[in-house]
Amino acid sequence: MKVIRTIAELRQELNIMRKNHNNDTSDSRGVVVGLVPTMGYLHRGHASLMQAARQQSDIVVLSIFVNPIQFGPNEDFDSYPRDEERDLAVARAEGVDIVFSPSVEEMYPQPTQTTITVSGITERLCGASRPGHFNGVTTVVSKLFNIVQPQKAFFGMKDAQQVAVIQQMVHDLNMPVDVVPCPIVREEDGLALSSRNVYLSSELRQEALVLSQALRAVQEAVASNTAITAKDIRHILREHISQSVHAVIDYAEIQSFPSLEPLADDEELKAYGDLLIALAVKFGKTRLIDNIRIQKMEVLSRV
Ligand code: PAF
Repeated sequence: MKVIRTIAELRQELNIMRKNHNNDTSDSRGVVVGLVPTMGYLHRGHASLMQAARQQSDIVVLSIFVNPIQFGPNEDFDSYPRDEERDLAVARAEGVDIVFSPSVEEMYPQPTQTTITVSGITERLCGASRPGHFNGVTTVVSKLFNIVQPQKAFFGMKDAQQVAVIQQMVHDLNMPVDVVPCPIVREEDGLALSSRNVYLSSELRQEALVLSQALRAVQEAVASNTAITAKDIRHILREHISQSVHAVIDYAEIQSFPSLEPLADDEELKAYGDLLIALAVKFGKTRLIDNIRIQKMEVLSRV
């Protein structure tokens, strides 16, 4: 596994690897480069992305870059957990070929004046409470796409809105990348894996279980009530989350997916295709997100 820190060196190494693969194979689809973009502090959720990439690609590139421009001024960029040594061991164990771990100066030489903005779907959910966040995400992801030129890129569905936004960007800008959404990975007790879970005290971690419990309650309600409305869903979510004394709800929403249109309270779910039930809740200073998807009244992702 190679660890590369500059764009020039990465391009050079990828050219060599692509040529070597081309010589080794007569496969007409060409060499498939799979990119797994991350901010590091890797957990089993990231490992599942690397496994999917390994299965579906000839060359796997993992990027590790805590992207400053997707953090707001009062957010946790400085304290975001980092452990490169451990990350490299995880990447090696998952069979990654190249880890691209650039500095902030390498990714954003000054002055930089270009950003990528997806409008509409970035204005809701996380976009409403984290202004500018998705501009930072789409800008860095499009830079990574240009630098690596992957055929496939792997993203976790825990950030469902991020997946929808990146798919929209790829569609609108005709980027030749297949965006592969991968399922949420959870702890045994239901907590969705996140690098930010390390911020939680044991008491808050216990309270954070209300997220997956609320989503499971929605799954059960949807399975048993075909006339269930958006208002019922919002009520179930809020009722469960209120069982945690420290939880402060940012949003507890039901929206169409991937267009992220909010459902009116009296709308019945059965009138819809694919839906996203999405939560963002603060426990102390830690903001956690979680979600499930429901398709034509059939639960797609299980808590
Ligand atoms: O999901 C993340 O870790 C980040 O938002 C991403 C996609 C790596 C962009 O910085």
